[in-house]
Amino acid sequence: MTADFEAEARALRERYPRGTTALIPILHLWQGKEGYVSQEGIERTARVMELPPAYVESVLTFYTLFRREPTGRYRIQVCKNLSCMLQGADETIAHLARRLGIEPGETTPDGLVTLEAVECLAACDEAPAAQVNFRWCPRLTPEAADRLIDALAQGDAEVVRRYG
Ligand code: FES
Repeated sequence: MTADFEAEARALRERYPRGTTALIPILHLWQGKEGYVSQEGIERTARVMELPPAYVESVLTFYTLFRREPTGRYRIQVCKNLSCMLQGADETIAHLARRLGIEPGETTPDGLVTLEAVECLAACDEAPAAQVNFRWCPRLTPEAADRLIDALAQGDAEVVRRYG
């Protein structure tokens, strides 16, 4: 899955006038392949970028969009910023955490779901806003969250597409 990473990363790097500007897109490229950015991802990115691995890691850990551990099959991200909190996002997050038996940032033991409380998703008018595997999931109330989890637990991956 990551065999063609170097060639794709170099092609990406050439699109930018300054090489270092491509660092974030290249980290996204790795994460898209592996699901997270491992130590191997840091080192291979550093080689392509001709940067020290510590520099790559410092950028990686600054942005919450990047993950350092494997995620579940479904990554549920619920916005935790003001507009969504005013519309009950804290209840949705707490409900999901109870229902799944995990805290935000954790993955269920069966590897099905990773729950994350994230910064503004730029969809404040559809609060509480959420994403499932980066697909838009508007107005995720606790009731809607239950329907979503039920569908995912029954293997209904299409539910993610229906929300999007
Ligand atoms: S505050 Fe939640 S999407 Fe903006």
